[in-house]
Amino acid sequence: MATRTHVEIDRTRIKELTASEAAKLNERTHGSRDFYARAQQSLVGGVASSYQSRAPWPIYLSHGKGANVWDIDGNEFLDFHNGFGSMVQGHAHDAISKAVTDRIGLGSHFAAPTEDAVIVGEELARRWGLSKWRYVNSGSEATMDAIRIARAATGRDPIIKIFGSYHGHHDYVMVSIGVEYDKIGDRFNLESLPYGMGIPQAVVDMTIAVPFNDAEAMERRIEALVAEGRAPACVIMEAAMMNLGVVLPEPGYLEAVREITRKHGIMLIFDEVKTGLCIAAGGAVERFGVRPDLVTLAKALGGGLPSGAIGGTDEAFELVEAEKVVQVGTYNGNPLSMAAARANLLEVMTPEAYAHLDALNERLLAGCQMVIEKYSFPGYSVGVGSKGCVTFSPEKITDYESFKANQDAELCELAWLYNMNRGIFMTPGREEEWTLSITHSFEDCDRFVGVFEELAYDLTE
Ligand SMILES: Cc1ncc(COP(=O)(O)O)c(C=O)c1O
Repeated sequence: MATRTHVEIDRTRIKELTASEAAKLNERTHGSRDFYARAQQSLVGGVASSYQSRAPWPIYLSHGKGANVWDIDGNEFLDFHNGFGSMVQGHAHDAISKAVTDRIGLGSHFAAPTEDAVIVGEELARRWGLSKWRYVNSGSEATMDAIRIARAATGRDPIIKIFGSYHGHHDYVMVSIGVEYDKIGDRFNLESLPYGMGIPQAVVDMTIAVPFNDAEAMERRIEALVAEGRAPACVIMEAAMMNLGVVLPEPGYLEAVREITRKHGIMLIFDEVKTGLCIAAGGAVERFGVRPDLVTLAKALGGGLPSGAIGGTDEAFELVEAEKVVQVGTYNGNPLSMAAARANLLEVMTPEAYAHLDALNERLLAGCQMVIEKYSFPGYSVGVGSKGCVTFSPEKITDYESFKANQDAELCELAWLYNMNRGIFMTPGREEEWTLSITHSFEDCDRFVGVFEELAYDLTE
């Protein structure tokens, strides 16, 4: 809930604290600084993916166990980043480590199906109530293939996504994310804008964005596209947005989307790369009770090994079954990933694990909200399952437009520095949510709240 009255944060104070906290972090991470100098010689920007970049240097990690990670300077952190939400099991979980160790001695890759792949498929079908599954190796591959399936099934090319949502790094979905607020256009006719260079304009034009939490805007845009002879193949969306902090669906919104897509013969894809396995055993489908035609999974599925999956109804997979849609990949269903996923699903992410995550998150969200109210801090806490955040905005964020209008990037950066200097590892430089792991304790949550209180105190007293 948005707070009604709040203090105005002194921007000069944010800048002063940012400078002193950045100097403190630099002082503690000389090993990373020196390693960055070496890494830059071979890796572009010294990192494996641009989302790992950070100025003045990235923090290089050496290892993790349970809820903790260590950097190469020997600093110990409680991990609330958890690999963008992949490590909801905690690091180096005994059951997953054993499954992978047992498997690797038996051969780690055949490009032929194995028993574990079937067992994982059966469990995913049970959890999601979707009968058919295929594997891939990442979230991007999952969304790319799901969109192809939808295009084939409908015989249509245009697709609809939510403005501001991230669905991976392939061209179809690298559209209308992270762009300037004044360029997005009117909410009933939002612009299709490329996310970075190298995306063909023809692909950009085929991806149409609509605002989250606005079923009317979605339906109006669909009707306009139909009138132009450009009916869309699918709506691809997260049931709860997970890249603007956490933005939950308003009551009735997902049900309305399901009805609209059904009415217009459009496939509904829930991208559960972040929500899947992290907000409930059966992801957003279980949590919110709306069944799409297809879901995409990755991140937490493989317990720290690269993997991904697409699930759907028999009907949705008909053309793949008939081999008219070519869904393939050398490493799909890789035995190591499948052994890890099997242990993850059957031994680690149990009903008790989900009950623990819910209890942890409740405590963390309530603790942060108490701090917000005590200091009349501009913001509110919001979350679901293992995921949550403090949104630094006095207004409730419901979509990209309200996010951009209220975004406080300076405060986010300062909060990140406060966390890092006080033993809390968080995603660098982006408005990301926390992901708890089942190895976190209530004390760990209290520690997070304590650091947030220190920040609130220093900014308001
Ligand atoms: C919702 C969502 N979909 C897809 C992806 C892409 O996944 P990957 O990075 O494994 O390709 C991400 C990655 O952050 C994501 O958050």
